[in-house]
Amino acid sequence: MTTISRRTFMLAATAVGALALAGVAIAEVPKLEQKDKYKVGFAQTESNNPWRIAQTNSMKAEAEKLGFQLVYTDAAGSAAKQVADVNSMIAQGVDVIFLAPREEKPLIPAVMAAKKAGIPVILLDRSVDPSLAKAGEDYLTFIGSNFVEEGKRVAEWLVKNANGKSKIIELEGTTGSSPANDRKKGFDEAIKAAGGFEIVASQTGDFARDKGRQVAEALLQAHPDADVIYAHNDEMAIGAIAALEAAGKVPGKDVLVLSIDGGKEAVQAVVDGKIAAVVECNPRFGPKAFETMMRYAKGEKIDPMIINDDKFYDASNAAAELANAY
Ligand code: AHR
Repeated sequence: MTTISRRTFMLAATAVGALALAGVAIAEVPKLEQKDKYKVGFAQTESNNPWRIAQTNSMKAEAEKLGFQLVYTDAAGSAAKQVADVNSMIAQGVDVIFLAPREEKPLIPAVMAAKKAGIPVILLDRSVDPSLAKAGEDYLTFIGSNFVEEGKRVAEWLVKNANGKSKIIELEGTTGSSPANDRKKGFDEAIKAAGGFEIVASQTGDFARDKGRQVAEALLQAHPDADVIYAHNDEMAIGAIAALEAAGKVPGKDVLVLSIDGGKEAVQAVVDGKIAAVVECNPRFGPKAFETMMRYAKGEKIDPMIINDDKFYDASNAAAELANAY
């Protein structure tokens, strides 16, 4: 493996910086110097659910293990704050920014600002609009799940196990976010291709438990014959269960509830028969995120997408897997 001297690295970085300042578009991700210790930014989207907390804990634990300084921010559900958080990390001179972009378009300026400042960005779990920013050019790579595949796996389970149930309420995630767009695409296309099902309503519950409950309540009133609820995450699925029970319906019997994420509470709900099936969305990013960053610093070629493995839980394995769920 080739290592370059600090002087050569600084000269190259300065030249790239000068071009950027002159307004010349650089079709290259900024380089990362090889060092023993790094100052790393992690711009989190929000912390309102177990999935986000598990992801943050995994990032913090890995930074601590490596002895790296982690500049952590929580955008509290605001894309505008997340852009400001990234700008603050740039001002603090971090070496790398891990960004979990809340929505696909509003975070583009943050990605571009980091690139202009010579700081490589690694997207974690959510992506940005590919027509506006590209892996290997504007940011280094995307690490996360294949969200289209997650939606498709839920649909495939339903097609095999529907037992005559066919009228679906879909609770979408945050509007404009890549998991909401892609989980909808994967599920809707597979359901359409299978035939015999109808999505009677599809509305955002913003990936949040109480919003999911409220939306499910309203949609169940408008569509009392709905017998399937597909929620884009566990939080909304758990909210939907509360809405079903309040309406006097039995989740798992009258209405099949399907979800994505695979947190402990949802896997327990599968054991209890309230959720029929859950596709895991693995939140344990720390080891892979930091390993990718250090491979890049060594000069290795990084793939534009690094896809996590996700499990699948239903009545056949939920009890056995419960202890391993986050
Ligand atoms: O981007 C991943 C999604 O975001 C998870 O499904 C959800 O729970 C989180 O907020």
